[in-house]
Amino acid sequence: MKKLIVANWKANPDSVRRAVSLAFAIESSAKYSKNKIVIAPPFPFLAAVKKVLRRVKLGAQNVSENYHGPYTGEVTAEELKDLGVSYVIVGHSERRSLGETDLIINKKIKAAIKKNLKVILCVGEPWSVRKKGIRAAEKFVREQLQKDLKGIENWKLKIENLIVAYEPVWAIGTGRADKPQDAIQMIRFIKKFLNPKSYILNPKVLYGGSVTAKNAAKFLNQKEIDGALVGGASLKPKKFQKIIQASGNAIA
Ligand code: PGA
Repeated sequence: MKKLIVANWKANPDSVRRAVSLAFAIESSAKYSKNKIVIAPPFPFLAAVKKVLRRVKLGAQNVSENYHGPYTGEVTAEELKDLGVSYVIVGHSERRSLGETDLIINKKIKAAIKKNLKVILCVGEPWSVRKKGIRAAEKFVREQLQKDLKGIENWKLKIENLIVAYEPVWAIGTGRADKPQDAIQMIRFIKKFLNPKSYILNPKVLYGGSVTAKNAAKFLNQKEIDGALVGGASLKPKKFQKIIQASGNAIA
């Protein structure tokens, strides 16, 4: 099965020139992989990055819950679509820590899906919860999913309308990735949550949090894990290339 590998550049790099050259390097290495690759650069670089992409799809790191109108500083789903964006990351823990609530996340998901953007919803527990055990973490993640997805139970979504990324907060940018076995347990839990409620049949769930060239295969070769959301390592073309090729589907 094809895996989905998403590069989340966050607020990097520091110039459009560097963004384009990084995108070009990733596009070149994507040729050797059967996996689906997405690059999510900062908003100001989207148009320039799009020009060098062929196989690789364009993603955004955020979207407004509103459509066009008096919303200073916001970027809408329509604007992203018009730029050629296919995927949007919603609810990343770094945005949650900036004050984004589950209610806002819920509105953003609805706005994005209505405009045909593929949503990558990030969920995951902080260490204060995880240290109490995996059951406590499951409860935390279930509550996030319930709130974030409220009201879309009957939307009859297609598989790629809504992808979930399990990103334990304590694993993001720390070099301390989750154990693949624990990530699998949580991903099974998330899939079980999504399935019977008929949010979506056969949902895709990614793992994110300190995925590196060294540990990527341990995650990507698991049948339960449908791909990876990669931050830091996606800014290093050689390392990201190894991640792209880490799954058993690599052709080179
Ligand atoms: P990381 O970030 O790979 O640097 O841990 C992942 C993410 O924030 O999506």
